[in-house]
Amino acid sequence: MKPKAKFISFEGIDGAGKSTHIAYVAERLQTALKTYGINVICSREPGGTPLGETLRELLLQQKMHLETEALLMFAVRREHIAQLIDPALARGDWVISDRFTDASFAYQGGGRHLSLDKLNILEQWVHPDLQPDLTFLFDVPLDVARARLDATRQLDKFEQEKADFFADTRNEYLRRAAEFPDRFCIIDSTQSIATIRQELDKLIDALIQKAIVP
Ligand code: TMP
Repeated sequence: MKPKAKFISFEGIDGAGKSTHIAYVAERLQTALKTYGINVICSREPGGTPLGETLRELLLQQKMHLETEALLMFAVRREHIAQLIDPALARGDWVISDRFTDASFAYQGGGRHLSLDKLNILEQWVHPDLQPDLTFLFDVPLDVARARLDATRQLDKFEQEKADFFADTRNEYLRRAAEFPDRFCIIDSTQSIATIRQELDKLIDALIQKAIVP
């Protein structure tokens, strides 16, 4: 029996180290699913479509009103769902998104203090019936995330934010993980890459098994 299409998201504050693990999970899933003729589509937000990638440049570089920022994040998402996520899931493919709506709650809601009611309205508007089946939340203490960011490339608008912003963003992620425990898996991202991979392997295998059961 063919495993049912699944939608997986990766979340965490900047510097939490999620990117290292996305390619690993995608490759592992693709190996497991190719015998069923299923493709694994990897995408990201903001981005995921030509329009989304153009808007990503603006969102990551330009200062703007916090509501403009939230509306643009959801505009990118609307296009992403229409062009990529919905068609892929309808074909039976699996979709991995590097960030989804939890990031809007965490960054615009937590970090920038935009009312969660407004974000709930946008979520209801843009994807009333779609949620990730599984969300990996890569969690690290703020000082670890900061050190990782400072050791890397040029920082974008969000990455230049202060400690308070990231503390509030992280708290909102953790609050959502507690609110939706069936969907969220919190990964302690201070662990070694090998240990995290072992944990991811188990979670992925369990998800595939669950997808096969009628
Ligand atoms: P990335 O660096 O992980 O690709 O993410 C881009 C930035 O965009 C990251 O700092 C988080 C931010 N972001 C939001 O503020 N709200 C959102 O809804 C999304 C998807 C991302």
